[in-house]
Amino acid sequence: MLDLGCAPGSWLIYAAKISGINGKAYGLDINEINIKLPKNAVSYKENILNINKTPLGIIKYNVVLSDMAPLTSGRKDVDAARSFKLCEIALEKACDLLVLNGNFLCKIFQGKEFKQFELNVKSNFKKTIIFKPKSSRKSSKEIFIIGLGKTRGN
Ligand SMILES: C[S@@+](CC[C@H](N)C(=O)[O-])C[C@H]1O[C@@H](n2cnc3c(N)ncnc32)[C@H](O)[C@@H]1O
Repeated sequence: MLDLGCAPGSWLIYAAKISGINGKAYGLDINEINIKLPKNAVSYKENILNINKTPLGIIKYNVVLSDMAPLTSGRKDVDAARSFKLCEIALEKACDLLVLNGNFLCKIFQGKEFKQFELNVKSNFKKTIIFKPKSSRKSSKEIFIIGLGKTRGN
């Protein structure tokens, strides 16, 4: 499993737990993780744009998660556009690095770009689910999009 935007680390710890002792969870973030990770988890401090400078760019994954979020500006349209850009990069990497039939989950700030992102996910996965967890505040613009079963590639 690959966890993009993994700091401070709670998703990565959970990903390691559900991957089991024979599975592995890999994380990447521009910020360092300062908590102790389980034995089957490892993280790299790097920008997603430079993933190929780490060993993560050559591994094949069953699942790619992205909780990457931009620094917020306070302007919802600007933040949504920045979030969309990060999500597009996450989707591109997921398409490159997932095994055939692999799954993708991505958090995005809803804005006018959301429909385009949904279409982009739809065109690469068999099934798409849009999901807002109960724990997410109603006023929050964040929403999760899940792509199940990557349709193309290796
Ligand atoms: C909401 S936090 C993630 C929280 C994480 N899922 C957890 O469970 O602890 C969003 C993260 O996205 C990271 N991020 C933002 N832009 C990034 C980029 N270009 N490359 C890698 N990570 C990025 C931030 O540094 C931040 O740690």
